[in-house]
Amino acid sequence: MLELRNVTKTFNLTGNKEDLRTALDHINLQIESGEFVTIIGSNGSGKSTTVNVITGSVKPDSGQVLLNNVDITKLDEHQRASYFGHVFQDPMLGTSGDMSVLENLEIAYRRGRKHSPFLWGFRKSHKQIFINELKRFDLGLEDRLNQKVGVMSGGQRQALTLLMATIRNKPTHRTMKKDYIRFSEKDHDVAKKEFEDFYNPAYQEFKKEFRAILFDRTLKHKEKRAKLIEANRLFCQKVSKFDLTKQILLLDEHTAALDPKTAKKVLELTDKIVKENGMTTLMITHNMKDALTYGNRLIMFHGGHIILDVRGEEKQKLTIEDLLEKFNTAGDLPPDSAILSK
Ligand SMILES: Nc1ncnc2c1ncn2[C@@H]1O[C@H](COP(=O)(O)OP(=O)(O)OP(=O)(O)O)[C@@H](O)[C@H]1O
Ligand SMILES: [Mg+2]
Repeated sequence: MLELRNVTKTFNLTGNKEDLRTALDHINLQIESGEFVTIIGSNGSGKSTTVNVITGSVKPDSGQVLLNNVDITKLDEHQRASYFGHVFQDPMLGTSGDMSVLENLEIAYRRGRKHSPFLWGFRKSHKQIFINELKRFDLGLEDRLNQKVGVMSGGQRQALTLLMATIRNKPTHRTMKKDYIRFSEKDHDVAKKEFEDFYNPAYQEFKKEFRAILFDRTLKHKEKRAKLIEANRLFCQKVSKFDLTKQILLLDEHTAALDPKTAKKVLELTDKIVKENGMTTLMITHNMKDALTYGNRLIMFHGGHIILDVRGEEKQKLTIEDLLEKFNTAGDLPPDSAILSK
């Protein structure tokens, strides 16, 4: 569970008192694991600042950010990087233009984690994972693995950023244990024992199976590889209940710079990836139709406050007119896309 507790942030660009901007005014927000929240609100209402406070790129003046009840407010952005996948409005921000598609993906895959020990011996398989994932975007990116990202279109870059934000190498034993003890609600020693009692025998069993496949002379190279990958997958699945920090996806107008067709494609794929992985997701958008169509909870920001927070059936019943009415009451102009998307 992700929580913002009484978070306040004021910016002062010039140093003059009159130029103080309160971006967030005592924000309280609890997001349950697996929730898909769409966030709307007029320009400057505090949406991006909220996401930036979560990732740690903006430090709040007061208040706390909690992940599974653990205060992470003081953790630096890079220390939190493995818990969050972030896609920005600007396609240039999420990828490195000087590097190839493959290099960008490799970096994202290892984000904040050391290489998984279970994948030794078949590191090359990453490439196949990336190719399979890229194919789903239907943008031909799988054939451009060695091309520099800098020469690609905004839509292609954004699709790549989305993939980079959602793929993650399985954490290593050490990282998983450290995070489990840190984020489990149980007492330190109890959590440690629980982890070791389950993990160690499962790992021994996996190792035995792994060796048996590796030294099986009846298997052809290809079959061996497939079996090893499958054994690894099953093992990771088995111990995944200890992987408490499955990634949280933060999308800040991630389709705004794309043409309507590509935007639609990227959005549909976002929804698919989120559902398949049960990812906890925050999606900022100016498109009210998208905010209503996707997700199971909708939040509206105004002047650094949350002025609407609806979920489930109540969200399903919401209409664009309801949202426009809410904008009007708050004294905000609805974004153009609200009208355009009607
Ligand atoms: N780095 C910064 N320096 C100074 N002021 C900032 C900074 N970041 C945000 N602000 C101010 O904080 C307020 C909230 O900004 P924020 O970016 O969170 O809005 P937003 O809801 O994301 O808007 P938009 O829809 O335009 O993206 C605005 O008044 C903005 O000018
Ligand atoms: Mg913003």
